[in-house]
Amino acid sequence: MSNLTHLTNAGVSVVIATSSGTPSILHWGRAISPGFDASALVQTQLEPTPHCDFDEPQTIGIWRENSRGFIGEPTIKGSRPGRDWSHHFTVRSTQLDGNTVTYVSIDAEAELEIEARFELTEQGVLKLSQRVTNLGLSEFTVEALTSYLPVPDYTKDVLDFHGRWMRERQPQRQAIRVGNWVREGREGRTGHDYTLIQFALAEGTTFEHGEAWGLSLAWSGNNRHVVERTAIGRTSMGAGELLLPDEMVLASNESYQAPTVVAVYANDGIDGASHRLHSMLRARPNHPTNIRPRPVTLNVWEAVYFDHDFDKLAALADAAAAIGVERFVLDDGWFGARRHDRAGLGDWVVSKDVWPEGLGKLVDKVKSVGLEFGLWFEGEMVNQDSDLYREHPEWILQAGGRIPPEFRTQQVLDLAHDGAYKHVFDQTHAILSEYDIAYIKWDHNRVLTEASHYGKAAVRKQVEAIYRMFDELKAAHPGLEIESCSSGGGRIDLGMIDHADRFWTSDNNDALERQSINRYTSIAIPPELLGTHIGPTKAHSSGRTHSHTFRAITALWGHAGLEWDLTEASVEDMELLKGWTSYYKAKRGLLHSGRTVRVDGSETSNQIHGVVAQDKSEALYMYAQLTTSEYSRPANIRLTGLDSEATYLVKVVEPAGAAVGMQLLPPKWYAGVRVPGAFLASSGLRAPVLRPEQAMLIEATRV
Ligand code: GLA
Repeated sequence: MSNLTHLTNAGVSVVIATSSGTPSILHWGRAISPGFDASALVQTQLEPTPHCDFDEPQTIGIWRENSRGFIGEPTIKGSRPGRDWSHHFTVRSTQLDGNTVTYVSIDAEAELEIEARFELTEQGVLKLSQRVTNLGLSEFTVEALTSYLPVPDYTKDVLDFHGRWMRERQPQRQAIRVGNWVREGREGRTGHDYTLIQFALAEGTTFEHGEAWGLSLAWSGNNRHVVERTAIGRTSMGAGELLLPDEMVLASNESYQAPTVVAVYANDGIDGASHRLHSMLRARPNHPTNIRPRPVTLNVWEAVYFDHDFDKLAALADAAAAIGVERFVLDDGWFGARRHDRAGLGDWVVSKDVWPEGLGKLVDKVKSVGLEFGLWFEGEMVNQDSDLYREHPEWILQAGGRIPPEFRTQQVLDLAHDGAYKHVFDQTHAILSEYDIAYIKWDHNRVLTEASHYGKAAVRKQVEAIYRMFDELKAAHPGLEIESCSSGGGRIDLGMIDHADRFWTSDNNDALERQSINRYTSIAIPPELLGTHIGPTKAHSSGRTHSHTFRAITALWGHAGLEWDLTEASVEDMELLKGWTSYYKAKRGLLHSGRTVRVDGSETSNQIHGVVAQDKSEALYMYAQLTTSEYSRPANIRLTGLDSEATYLVKVVEPAGAAVGMQLLPPKWYAGVRVPGAFLASSGLRAPVLRPEQAMLIEATRV
């Protein structure tokens, strides 16, 4: 085996050398033609010897040990009481299997083994998984295992995403400076503030152009992402699980398998990175659209809240069926003493008060009008006012005998406790066995505080338990789909993606707010996994009133649905909704398989978002006017991602009504023009002058 490994796929190369005794990444980025001189490449990366530095050039390697001269955070932090806190790993084996290379290294003194597995997928996405094993007889405590990858010195900016309930994944971009820029999540769940992906960008990288390196931790618990530029001048990105004190103590021969870090490089902009991630996820055999198209969904939460009444819900099912909805979801309020949000969580039995004959009548009604039935759960949570809590107060997550402060009047169950796990599984399983339920929405509305299992920090155990719960429920109920919700978008990550089928993107159904939430969440997550619903005319989240058209067009760019009291919709609204659902059904094949494009522009008052078929034969774009335009004549609408050699028929379509303008006459191309793809991508089309909070759809079809 040569001491240099070159993984290459889909325009990306990773070159790793072990000539110094430790794997060292020489390159992660654009593809390099094979057949290069390996030792020459190694030589190019040997450091100089400045004054006042180590006397010989040091090669640091992926484990960043202090013993190799690295002055910074090592990959593994951990120790045995009083010793083995500093490590020196030497490669024992390198195993290459296709585009996967695995390095196993040993530190004989510290009695540790570490394994790093690099897989470069067909789509050019690098998956890095690391595992540390305690070879000694005494316990070894792992404080952190953070996977780092080098990025070029010329990266200029860091882009990541922050948020809160109702306002998830807002971009923040700033210059990379010397020091560490760290994003941490300590909520015990992924969190609304989880960056989802963190990028290092070359100068001027935009959606459309330039080089981007991104890391995303595939994990639904505490997390950490970091961009590090050291004073000696090297830049790296890292990601890892954020372990609590003594959360990971390894007995003899035990291992800690760190969550996989998903790393993506693109030289065709942030959208290029997004495209690679979407393609990788869509290649999974169990990716939901590989099983069936995504059904139009009606969730009744904002229509009825806790006010469950058969006649009202039956009327909603009729209205939904009339406009072409395919799935009906009964949200919170059907179980235990759950007449409000202060009681009942933990008792997953149908409430006798509101459903004296069980849910059967409603399920039958929903099915009789041709819809599937879905149901809400929040299995990890318990209200103190519940039978479960009265019987097992000891099952909540707490430390030191302190009852944690209430949050939405609820506490978190310790799912690592066999009794608690079994209770939640059995009750959920019983409901799923009794009724024909195609889908469950699984919520998680409280952050974890003092999460411990018999006194020991236990966020990780909680995450493992929920992954197991979802997998076991699915195994017991083949075909069951699970939506991961956490007060909206608080549990969206590339770990949960392998256990759930849909994410609730945000509790904010205000279409204006959703324009950015949807746009940025879909960088890492394909739109077909993101719930996007038409909310009420006056948004419950913000009090803003939006036109039907703006709400409907905004909700098209995901797994579409409605969350609105349809019994209040006007006849005209119902007609529009019928048109909208049938348009979504006709276009979902394209929307859920095509390449997402976010068009660069100089204005912040509007945004253009589209999906282009992989063969570029057709595309659909949204032109959204967010605020009043900066200019009396806004910038041209460019349509990107098309075949620049082909000609397209371009026209405005209005399956959900027309955008309202502030103009005497609209541009002249609306009814259809034939334009070369290259022209559309550069010169574009004259834009209309729209009122704020308006949107329109543009179709492009190759002629
Ligand atoms: C959370 C979810 C909502 C809804 C409510 C029910 O806030 O995000 O969609 O299910 O809980 O209590």
